Amino acid sequence: MIEFQHVSKAFGNDIYALRDVSLTIGDGELVFLAGPSGAGKSTLLRMIAGLEKPSSGTVLMNGQNLGQLKASSLPYLRRKLGLILQGQGLLLDRSVLANVMLPMIVVGESTTEAETRARAALDRLNILDKAHASPLALSGGEQQRVAIARAIVNRPKIILADEPTAYLDRDNAIIVINALKAFQRSGVTCIISSHDEQFLEQANRVIYLSKGEVTDSWTSAVESVVAA
Ligand SMILES: Nc1ncnc2c1ncn2[C@@H]1O[C@H](COP(=O)(O)OP(=O)(O)O)[C@@H](O)[C@H]1O
Ligand SMILES: [Mg+2]
Repeated sequence: MIEFQHVSKAFGNDIYALRDVSLTIGDGELVFLAGPSGAGKSTLLRMIAGLEKPSSGTVLMNGQNLGQLKASSLPYLRRKLGLILQGQGLLLDRSVLANVMLPMIVVGESTTEAETRARAALDRLNILDKAHASPLALSGGEQQRVAIARAIVNRPKIILADEPTAYLDRDNAIIVINALKAFQRSGVTCIISSHDEQFLEQANRVIYLSKGEVTDSWTSAVESVVAA
C-alpha cells in the first residue's frame, strides 16, 4: 500500500510541484494519474520511486516512510519497483536483450537466469524477435515495449509508468496500455501518468492533478479492456 499524507514538494521558494496531496493506493490497483503538463504527475511518481523527497508531509510504502529512507536502502525499494520513467531511455550501445537483462545483472543474477527471464519478458511484450537488434533500429512503440520489458523483468510488485504512451500512435499506445493492464491483472500495482484523455475511460481509478493539487478522483467498479 502506498500512502501520501499531506505531501507537498516545493522547488525553490514558490514553485509547488505538489501541494497537500493525500491519497492511498492499494495493492494491485490500476491507477491513472491525469492532468496537464506541469500538474505534478512526474514528481508524484518520482516520489514513490524514492527519487524525490517531500518538502513536508509523509509518503509511506507498506508503512515505511520513504522520506526517511537511507541511500543504502534505496536498492531494496527499487527491487520492488518497475520504473518506466521519462528520460530513462534504453542504452544504445547494446542490444535489446542486453538492455532487458541489465536490471537483473545489476542485482547479481546469473547471466543464464537473466537471459531466460529477459527473453520471457520480451516475449510477453511481443517483441522477442527484436532481441538482438540495436534499440536504434526500433520504432518508438517498439522501444517503449522494450522499456516495459526491462521494467518488469525483476518481477516488481509496483510498476510506475510516466507518460508511457507519449509520442506513440494510437495502435502502439493501446498495445502499451494493454500490456500494463495485463500486469495489473496478474496482481501488480500499476500507476500510469498520462495527459492523454483517451485512456482514462478504461481506468479503474483516475486521480486528477492540477497545479500540484488533487482536483478530482474516481474509482469504477467495472474492469474493462481496451479493444485492440
Ligand atoms: N527539479 C525541478 N526543479 C524545479 N522545478 C521543478 C523540478 N521538477 C519539477 N518542477 C516543477 O514542478 C511542477 C510539476 O512538474 P512535474 O511533476 O514534472 O509535472 P508533470 O509531470 O505533471 O508535467 C512544474 O511546474 C515543474 O516545472
Ligand atoms: Mg511529467
